[in-house]
Amino acid sequence: MATDTQLVIFDTTLRDGEQSPGCTMHHAEKLRFAHQLASLGVDIIEAGFAIASHGDFNSVHTIAREVSGPRIASLARCKREDIEAAARAVEPAAKNRIHVFLASSDLHLEAKLKITRAQALDNVATAVALARTFADDVEFSTEDGTRSDLNFLVEMVNVAVQAGATTINIPDTVGYTTPAEYKQLFETVRLRVPGSEKIIFSTHCHDDLGMAVANSLAGVEGGARQIECTINGIGERAGNAALEEIAAAIATRHDRYPYTTNLVMTELYPTSHMLGEIISFTCPPNKAVVGKNAFAHESGIHQHGVLSNPLTYEIMTPASVGFSGQNIVLGKHSGRKALEFRLKELGHTLSTEELNAVYHRFTELADRKKNIYDQDIVALLHAPTTEPLVTNVP
Ligand code: KIV
Ligand code: ZN
Repeated sequence: MATDTQLVIFDTTLRDGEQSPGCTMHHAEKLRFAHQLASLGVDIIEAGFAIASHGDFNSVHTIAREVSGPRIASLARCKREDIEAAARAVEPAAKNRIHVFLASSDLHLEAKLKITRAQALDNVATAVALARTFADDVEFSTEDGTRSDLNFLVEMVNVAVQAGATTINIPDTVGYTTPAEYKQLFETVRLRVPGSEKIIFSTHCHDDLGMAVANSLAGVEGGARQIECTINGIGERAGNAALEEIAAAIATRHDRYPYTTNLVMTELYPTSHMLGEIISFTCPPNKAVVGKNAFAHESGIHQHGVLSNPLTYEIMTPASVGFSGQNIVLGKHSGRKALEFRLKELGHTLSTEELNAVYHRFTELADRKKNIYDQDIVALLHAPTTEPLVTNVP
């Protein structure tokens, strides 16, 4: 349950993430990953879309039966068969949720669903009430909420609340909104919907303009207390808001985001890494928080700073997000300090003259070779000439 500053973290890696290209996961992989999400401390796992296939149903059902800790949710359209399948799938969980959605924008109603606004409101009332007969915890999402007519959006949210929805999600389905606009949207809807103080409002942002994380945090500033997100930001098209970035922003900028979560921060990196092993791509090296280079320093000036005091170029420690690898990377931009540091780590303490000589050979090597490995450094110590031994061991 959210308090005034406690945020509910709703992970949809296994649903919105999994439904995007290259992210398909098999049953055993989903189960393994759901256990990891529980270790990470997410509050809700959206385990799938039960009606989508037998495979999806089985995965949601198994996760509901075997993963303890988080609440387990399944997505459902405003259709009886979807809601019944979702209810059966999440039934074994100690805590469960049915997540019902319907589009609220005229574009989606006309072009995709071919129904009127009145029919949409009717469907929402019937579907949410039906979902409530199976679960006490029912979320309703206004798909394409950020491109909807504001008065109609408020009307739809009101109908869902009257029918018994306990969480209201206003998704930025196509990644179109901006932080200021999204914040204001939550403020307005909360103000205009009677009984909204008893409802948890939720963000759900896609990253088409690269603003999903900023928009999610702005939604929280507007009063939302649940954030829907995915590990590594995987999801439809450009992806969803990245859980690890939201978590790190809240932890690092607590002065601006005075909220708490149940997340175990040191599980961020292992969770990101596991996802990369399961799906067909890892995150880019420069990905915030969990990318291979997120804490790497190659230039001499930065290395010197970080070796003197990590705060010079690091706003959080690698250990705080569970990263334990090497962060001083030797390359052609590196300086003596970093070379000396690495040599010491490898067990070699050199005099100033020795270091100067090895550094000279190092710069020659770095001009010719993109990746310098520890074996190369050790070989430099023993190189008889200015032509050091070049190894290519990865
Ligand atoms: O992006 C979206 O609108 C969704 C809903 C189904 C919640 O994923
Ligand atoms: Zn989505």
